[in-house]
Amino acid sequence: MSRVKRLITAVDIWKSFKIGSEEIKALRGVNMQVFPGQFIAVVGRSGSGKTTLLNIMAGLDKPTAGTILFEEEDLTEMSEKQLTEIRRHKIGFVFQSFGLLPLLSAFENTELPLRISGVRAREREERTREALEIVGLWPRAKHRPYELSGGEQQRVAIARAIVSRPSLILADEPTGELDSNNAHAIFGLFKEMVRKQGISVVSATHDSTLLGMADEVKEIRDGQLLDEAKLGRRYRD
Ligand SMILES: Nc1ncnc2c1ncn2[C@@H]1O[C@H](COP(=O)(O)OP(=O)(O)OP(=O)(O)O)[C@@H](O)[C@H]1O
Ligand SMILES: [Mg+2]
Repeated sequence: MSRVKRLITAVDIWKSFKIGSEEIKALRGVNMQVFPGQFIAVVGRSGSGKTTLLNIMAGLDKPTAGTILFEEEDLTEMSEKQLTEIRRHKIGFVFQSFGLLPLLSAFENTELPLRISGVRAREREERTREALEIVGLWPRAKHRPYELSGGEQQRVAIARAIVSRPSLILADEPTGELDSNNAHAIFGLFKEMVRKQGISVVSATHDSTLLGMADEVKEIRDGQLLDEAKLGRRYRD
């Protein structure tokens, strides 16, 4: 029997940045859970803490206080080597500016993480094809990024993120540079991947028109998830 295992458990996460004598509290007591096969949108204004939260979930940054578990193991206690392993095999990243290498084809861009991990040619080819098929771009496999539309480039970036068959995709404003049709297509793709592949997706966005496509919406304001901010207020009142 498989039990529902939590992918991410964030418990009372605080993050401060010090600039000179000034301290910026980017996250102020965030609690969050991500389950397998869940699509969560994190919405909030510029500077509210979305990127900081994603970076901490990815183990790219350590919280000032709090615990962050990935598949029930504490990310803050892992060595750089263990974190690299997790980032390579279990987490896929998608960014606002697609981050494709301009001289490589869609196929080669997608394949790159497998080369880095030393996967053999035959398996690389199969998995790269599978990833490009999932995002609907196998027919464009030979195209270089400049021969693709913005929406297509972002789909290649998503293929690259899923080619390692991660359990979690972290996406930071993946639709920020896209028009509304393409933005909806990208969120539609996330929704479909969650349903068909059982991947989990956590995506930051400013775009409130996309929120209906996620299973759950977390609104962050000044480093706090909104329901918690409300709870806190009720508690104080
Ligand atoms: N490396 C850093 N050093 C100092 N302050 C930082 C750093 N990273 C983020 N901050 C501050 O932390 C707060 C949260 O930033 P964050 O980048 O998480 O916001 P965001 O919600 O992703 O915003 P945006 O929508 O503009 O991307 C901001 O006040 C920001 O200035
Ligand atoms: Mg950001």
